[in-house]
Amino acid sequence: MSQTEKTAEPCVMVIFGATGDLTKRKLFPALYNLAKDGHLPDNFAIVGVGRQELECGDFRSKIMADLKEFVPNTPDKKLIKWFEERTYYTGGDFDDDKKLFKDIKELLEEVCTKHDIPENFFYYMAIPPSLFANVSAKIVKNGLGKEENGNWRRFIYEKPFGSNFESAKALNASLLRILKERQIYRIDHYLGKETVQNILVFRFGNLIFEPIWNRNFIDHVQITVAESLGVESRGNYYEKSGALRDMVPNHIFQLLTLTAMEPPVSFEADAVRDEQAKILAAIQQFSPESVIHKTVRGQYDAGKIDGKEVPAYRNEESIAPDSNTETFAALELSIDNWRWGGVPFYVRTGKRMPGKHSEIVIQFKKAPFVLFRETSIEKLTTNRIVIHIQPDEGITLHFGAKIPGPIVNMGAVDMDFDYFEHFGENISTGYERLLFDGMIGDATLFQRADMVESSWQIVTPVIDVWNAIPARDFPNYEAGSWGPKESEELLERTGRRWKNEIT
Ligand code: BG6
Repeated sequence: MSQTEKTAEPCVMVIFGATGDLTKRKLFPALYNLAKDGHLPDNFAIVGVGRQELECGDFRSKIMADLKEFVPNTPDKKLIKWFEERTYYTGGDFDDDKKLFKDIKELLEEVCTKHDIPENFFYYMAIPPSLFANVSAKIVKNGLGKEENGNWRRFIYEKPFGSNFESAKALNASLLRILKERQIYRIDHYLGKETVQNILVFRFGNLIFEPIWNRNFIDHVQITVAESLGVESRGNYYEKSGALRDMVPNHIFQLLTLTAMEPPVSFEADAVRDEQAKILAAIQQFSPESVIHKTVRGQYDAGKIDGKEVPAYRNEESIAPDSNTETFAALELSIDNWRWGGVPFYVRTGKRMPGKHSEIVIQFKKAPFVLFRETSIEKLTTNRIVIHIQPDEGITLHFGAKIPGPIVNMGAVDMDFDYFEHFGENISTGYERLLFDGMIGDATLFQRADMVESSWQIVTPVIDVWNAIPARDFPNYEAGSWGPKESEELLERTGRRWKNEIT
């Protein structure tokens, strides 16, 4: 994470999947934020590539309208114009390397000349993973992938990178046949979030937390990534993916590895990634029996979110009326190493939950009770540290305090650190830092081939059992709830409880 450059290197960002949801919701707003803070050079341009045959002017108008919708506060008119002048589009069939890729080549030449940009190309694959290898091969075949004359060619792959262990391995192998590992950037936008990056600073930049950050003091860890949104317009993708593939081997495992890893020797890309990789290697593999006992899947039914009726998953656009795709997943994981042996890590994620709410809960063990036997205290408050990832970024320490008065009684209180209150507003999509790092060639916050493969290795047995035994009780949770009752039971079996509060 050593980052001293302020402005990205001159380049053309080529977005495959330019008319998709990610481009409008995240990529353009992130580029806008980077430009607003002076991180993009003047010799910069964007070439959108999509299947739709759109005129460049129509694409520009669409993107500018999207920017106005997705950039909070009123976007700056001058900046919108700056983008408009640098945004291009070409469309066609991704399978047809004769026409589309020739058009891309010509457009890139034109754009580089017009904006005085060296041929540094930053290819962003916002397309289904099944197309990654094919599209990359066509780029290379058309002479647009090889790094020469001091110009770089970087390939950014959106998640999910593969759809199980075998496919991730095969994808890595086919990309590595045509590209160098240093050209490959596997993105996980959770690593772009400030609070996620702060986990390392919080743990290793302070003295008081690390000595108790282990199985001697910690009872268990909970990671929740909840969303109130449903599947939106992404039905086609989501039907094949489901909550487990969509969120667990990527975003949730990033949160988990940063929470559980040993201190790295430096912030260099491989030092950090080595420690994360060791955690992935230490996670106990699921057997078919443990999938039954230690995992829960769910699919949302109709319900209410913020007082508004919302439909069941099976009634959403592009979803099969008898769909068996899960929109909720919960897993109990064990990390078999000296720090964490015997400490369960519970993770859960779902659509149509009560709110957009992501956090990591470090639940500490109980203090001895003996001192309080003769008092009116029936139960001691247990300590917990909550790392709030979003929407309110911060850290809370939960502890017990004496309630003022003549008798000894105890109340639970919170000590809160709020990012916004202390450091002011930081409007970010989570993609700014990652796009910028890609443009300056810093891979620290991107996933290495081995990490991606180990992550899939952990969840593939779950996918296999879930596929072999289709869920019979779907839909099994009401929209606006915390998921199916089996998710509560997963913790209740050992006397634990999810922290089902949005605080
Ligand atoms: C994406 C998933 O990777 O992350 C989406 O595909 C999900 O389904 C999104 O909604 C959540 O990201 P964020 O930054 O809004 O928490």
